[in-house]
Amino acid sequence: QEYGNILVERRGRVGLVTLNRPEALNALNRATLDELVAAVSAMDADPGVGAVVITGSGKAFAAGADIKEMASQGYMEMYDADWFRGWEDLTRLRIPLIAAVSGFALGGGCELAMMCDFIVAGDNAKFGQPEINLGVLPGMGGSQRLTRAVGKAKAMDMILTGRFIDADEAERSGLVARVVPAGDTVEEALKAAEVIASKSKPAAMLAKEAVNAAFETGLAQGVLFERRLFHSLFATEDQKEGMAAFSEKRQPEFRHR
Ligand code: HXC
Repeated sequence: QEYGNILVERRGRVGLVTLNRPEALNALNRATLDELVAAVSAMDADPGVGAVVITGSGKAFAAGADIKEMASQGYMEMYDADWFRGWEDLTRLRIPLIAAVSGFALGGGCELAMMCDFIVAGDNAKFGQPEINLGVLPGMGGSQRLTRAVGKAKAMDMILTGRFIDADEAERSGLVARVVPAGDTVEEALKAAEVIASKSKPAAMLAKEAVNAAFETGLAQGVLFERRLFHSLFATEDQKEGMAAFSEKRQPEFRHR
């Protein structure tokens, strides 16, 4: 399938989606959203893909929602279109998603990165929620996901002042999983994705669901949910193969079923 705003590649069992509007710092317009959700949904459904990397291009991962597309909208237009609701579709996918962030991840760009399961940041990365400077507030989950990632103090600081944080501060705060040299950002994210894609896909998808449940449930319910998911994996061929390979001191050959 041909896309106008993103590039889509396959590297073995890993999918790579590159936001490709560098002239607009990859500002996230509606067409980009539709394409990104379509491309990643297709990978989610494809047993041949085990993990996806989402990255930017040029100076930015993404500098936010497209301000020019939004600027003239009125309340009823925003409400009728339920503007930004489509991004929720990305968060419902089961396949592991890694954001490879080099340069700016601002506003909707930071929110997109936080919708991924973890962030690999280049040492040139800048994260921020500068919507306050536009007379609005984050609209793609930033007030919720940033607060869960970095805690109230830093989330309030970033969202109320619009201050950007660099990769070091983002790592110290728990927003990003790893910081790597800027030029290696995509390669390092792809390596992590390759590791994930080499595991049993059902196990990886359920592990993702279990971690995400920690944000939605109380501890006892979450631990019970995890245990039931754990039990369910004993219905897979991959569990038999993984445990047999351990006993036989060899590498497992997962069939993702
Ligand atoms: C539309 C954008 C854009 C955006 C950059 N561009 N960000 N277009 N929407 N979010 C465009 C610029 O207009 C410019 O186009 C081109 O990209 C290059 O950007 P410059 O500003 O010239 O680059 P630079 O001077 O290097 O500054 C980089 C920057 C700045 C600091 C990142 O672009 C910036 O502040 N961008 C906006 C960041 C932001 O406020 N994001 C939050 C958006 S709201 P031309 O045509 O002039 O070359 C959001 C959440 C939605 O995401 C929630 C509800 C609102």
